[in-house]
Amino acid sequence: MAETIPDLRGMPKDRAYAELRSHADAILEGVNDEITAMATVAALVHNAFAHLWTGFYRVVVPGQLLRVGPYQGSLGCLEIAFGQGVCGTAAAEIKTVVVADVEKFPGHITCDLRSRSEIVVPVTDSRGDLIAVLDVDSDRPNAFDLDDQRGLERLVTWFATMRQ
Ligand code: SME
Repeated sequence: MAETIPDLRGMPKDRAYAELRSHADAILEGVNDEITAMATVAALVHNAFAHLWTGFYRVVVPGQLLRVGPYQGSLGCLEIAFGQGVCGTAAAEIKTVVVADVEKFPGHITCDLRSRSEIVVPVTDSRGDLIAVLDVDSDRPNAFDLDDQRGLERLVTWFATMRQ
């Protein structure tokens, strides 16, 4: 396999995410391993947009604890409690959290000092159970908007439709 990751910077975001989704679908055809899929999605999103940090925090104790999973970027914090930081808030509320300025988010957990803005999207399986959150960080303020929210939410529906 010699798949390359497209550089989607500069393309309208809705088109960029549509392209990314079809790329992910093609690469993950026949895959039924969540970790393999998380690693692939993290690499695709991270490199297509040249983000600062892109990766998954997995639910290891439902309702209580997230632990870092496949990611791209500098070292991520290993564990985050539900309700803590942006990731723990998205996990506790099972909803996407967009943070335009991380310094204004109470309890934001700093893993990389260069991070300026962040989006965290919940990831659910086919039963509707939360299995992880997808966290994307940018070194630019206000980097994420509704197109990113829609695009990333759609991308992670892969985990709900994965064939067991
Ligand atoms: N900023 C996140 C922590 C994870 S790192 O950004 C990789 C948070 O507040 O949950």
